[in-house]
Amino acid sequence: MRHLVKTQQFTRESLKKLFDLASELEGMRDDSLRGKILATLFYEPSTRTRLSFESAMLRLGGGVITMENGRESSSQSKGETLEDSIKVVNHYADVIVMRHAEVGAADRAAAVSKIPIINAGDGNMGQHPTQALLDLYTIQRELKREDGIHIAFVGNLKYYRSPRSLAYLIGKYKDMKVTFVSSPELKMQSDVKTYLKRHDVQVEETEDMKSIIGKADVLYQTRIAKEWINNDEEYERQRGRYIITRAVADSMKKGAIIIHPLPRIGEISPDVDDSPHAVYFRQIGYGLLVRMALLRTILTKQK
Ligand code: CP
Repeated sequence: MRHLVKTQQFTRESLKKLFDLASELEGMRDDSLRGKILATLFYEPSTRTRLSFESAMLRLGGGVITMENGRESSSQSKGETLEDSIKVVNHYADVIVMRHAEVGAADRAAAVSKIPIINAGDGNMGQHPTQALLDLYTIQRELKREDGIHIAFVGNLKYYRSPRSLAYLIGKYKDMKVTFVSSPELKMQSDVKTYLKRHDVQVEETEDMKSIIGKADVLYQTRIAKEWINNDEEYERQRGRYIITRAVADSMKKGAIIIHPLPRIGEISPDVDDSPHAVYFRQIGYGLLVRMALLRTILTKQK
């Protein structure tokens, strides 16, 4: 793998290799990437993705240069093209982690970059592959199995790149079931559903979250992303429709988990945080390990 643009690039075997390395790296700090430089180019806001990649690089002994708030603070605001910016940063760094508002931006960057591009999110209906990797690693570590898992995606399934990205990984495992729980306006797009069915994943859709709470192994909650819905009336209509309260969490089956890419804006009540089902903050730690493993894999191969 030279660039990481979308989750379809992985095989079951390459996922296992990456996740084994992530587990090996737990608690580790070393100098394996000494002399290497990571550039984080963020044209959209982020807390977790940018900081966890930077923390991952520093823990492996590498260096970091960063551009946050790129839409306003970079030379894009003067009219520089993304392609020119990438060619320039090629002279400064060994790997680029980039987030951009446009679907396809990571592909455009990869097309002109001689150093690896890691897509940290491109557009509301693009992909966020490293989020999907850490989601899957979380699921497998917590449930202690890879196959035979029932995942319920809840809420905003239309304008959200993370569930889309994870769906493409689920198709690589056996006896998987996916329930999409959403309002009719925020349903998962048909390309993802077609892909899952083609890969023998059992797919169902419902508007009724209660009907699956006691059945699913994983409740994947999402945010009704105001910045992506772009319509205040629609946002107000959708917000608050699917809330995981403590009562909801308490009715989940034993061993089932709640995950969320975060940030959450009210769709999981704070009193769920100490439920045995709540995994979304442990998920952050798993994300760091996966991003360490990814940087190590991509940058070590180049030596
Ligand atoms: N989950 C996620 O991508 O978070 P950030 O937007 O904070 O990076």
